[in-house]
Amino acid sequence: MNSLTIITPDDWHLHLRDTPYLQAVVADSARQFGRAIVMPNLVPPVRSCEDALAYRERILAALPANSNFEPLMTLYLTDNTRVQDIEAASDSPYIHGAKLYPAGATTNSDAGVTDLGRLARVFEAMQKHRFMLQVHGEATSPEIDVFDREKVFIDQSLERIRRDFPELPIVFEHITTRDAVDYVHAAERNLAATITPHHLLINRNAIFQGGIRPHHYCLPIAKREQHRQALLAAASGGDRRFFAGTDSAPHSQQAKESACGCAGIYSALSALELYAEAFELTADFTHFENFMSRNGADYYALPQNQGSVRLERQSWEVPASLPYPDSELIPFKAGESLRWKQMIDD
Ligand code: NCD
Ligand code: ZN
Repeated sequence: MNSLTIITPDDWHLHLRDTPYLQAVVADSARQFGRAIVMPNLVPPVRSCEDALAYRERILAALPANSNFEPLMTLYLTDNTRVQDIEAASDSPYIHGAKLYPAGATTNSDAGVTDLGRLARVFEAMQKHRFMLQVHGEATSPEIDVFDREKVFIDQSLERIRRDFPELPIVFEHITTRDAVDYVHAAERNLAATITPHHLLINRNAIFQGGIRPHHYCLPIAKREQHRQALLAAASGGDRRFFAGTDSAPHSQQAKESACGCAGIYSALSALELYAEAFELTADFTHFENFMSRNGADYYALPQNQGSVRLERQSWEVPASLPYPDSELIPFKAGESLRWKQMIDD
């Protein structure tokens, strides 16, 4: 197979940051994707409808001329989120969920939720309105090993949320383990998961290959090879509850290459090509279009995109770095060659 044409895909988990960083990255996503769920972990976070709608306007203003890219907004849940915030958001055609960051789990999550019990009324309202809960699924207690955080979150928190709110639709975001794959497979309903291109392509050895590799550090952290294999099998296996979500998370070169480097991998430059690279490892593209372009839209009850994108088997080299305000941005696979290239028709 030398060419792939699929319905324009969507990115169901994306960090675009804010002005002026937003302007440096948004065109990369808009070139490949029709829509993206845009993460709300700005400083300060996107907590209200007003915040989300204003952020949406800034994203639209930053898009290249003639782009039809649609940012799908989500609210950042805190201990103080109110039922009326959820009700207003669920009435908005532009807001498509609320994001649960356990406090301290990842970049800009300090304002996140410290106690799930405090959100009972919020979850109830979300369940009533069938408003999507997007979950960063990592337990945060310091005694829990960083590689076990996803599994512990399933056992201690996700299972409880699903038991108490069985009609609440949930996306378990950027899953990284066989445990998460098995948990989604076993769920009867109201649970789906996104998978990033980097978790399909690297295991945890990549973080330590010949020295410490900050550009392979993200959260949730990459796991053992057996987990990568399970993710690849889930993405390519035809279960329609798995779909693309890049978790592309830009940080400046200085912020990454530091004594305390930030978590986040910038994959948006070549996300589609990276997913194709991953599917190629399975030698089976049967479910590629569903994973990229249909499953997420169906789960979010949104229409599929109208257009299409085309990839050809053509080797090309990912740039070593990209311009970023006051710095550079190092893309995933910088300087390496990829086997698939998106063809842009004029
Ligand atoms: C994300 C970021 O930088 O905002 N980082 C990451 O490693 N993925 C936050 C997140 O999604 O965890
Ligand atoms: Zn993320």
